[in-house]
Amino acid sequence: MRKHIVAGNWKMNNDLPQTELLITELLKQNKTSDAEVMIAPTFTNLWQAFESLRQESIEVIAQNMHFAENGAYTGEISASMLKSIGIETVILGHSERRAYFNETDESLAKKVDAALANDMRIIFCFGEELADRKSGNHEGIVESQIKNALFHLEADAFKNIVLAYEPVWAIGTGETASPEQAQDMHAFIRKTLADKYGNDVAESVSILYGGSVKPNNAKEIFGKPDVDGGLIGGAALKAEDFYAIVNAF
Ligand code: PGA
Repeated sequence: MRKHIVAGNWKMNNDLPQTELLITELLKQNKTSDAEVMIAPTFTNLWQAFESLRQESIEVIAQNMHFAENGAYTGEISASMLKSIGIETVILGHSERRAYFNETDESLAKKVDAALANDMRIIFCFGEELADRKSGNHEGIVESQIKNALFHLEADAFKNIVLAYEPVWAIGTGETASPEQAQDMHAFIRKTLADKYGNDVAESVSILYGGSVKPNNAKEIFGKPDVDGGLIGGAALKAEDFYAIVNAF
């Protein structure tokens, strides 16, 4: 069976004391589902978060990384730096990285390679903008994002890849894809994978949905057969809300 995963993307929120406080709150929550739980604090707080959660079943993951191993890339952080503090999973390709930091399919393909070369697990994000959805080109856009960044990989690499479909128009807007829209796209993504790598790979990859998942809509979205979890932004910043979503499975 595919893994259920609920990952909280904290984005550029929470300084160190706030991070420690939210982790304390998270540890008070009761987990009643089988979902793997992850949180992605900002770089400066990863080490502290990792230390605080070392014995716990919440994985601390990174929001981004650079594709180079090291060198003259002022302000950047490499896969091996993350690994050296215990971080095993990285989010790549979030739409905010694509929109505000010029990340392209090409640069993302390099980041994917670097993460895999360092034995890291990847949550790879993609999704269409509102104009693509309106013009009916949403599947075409998603297909090209996946193909351009991932289809140079061997099938085996998908053991370390989780996909996250995040329609840009639903991120931080309070607008969610309907459970049917999410299911339709997730089924399309799985078919795209199956066409290239075969059914075994397609059936084994977890596909998360992201975009305004909240306690009041998580159950319906997670109830769809091809939705294997969620990448949660705003609602991940409140421990009760986040666990209400974790427990929606
Ligand atoms: P949101 O963010 O839940 O606040 O819409 C989701 C994301 O950006 O991963």
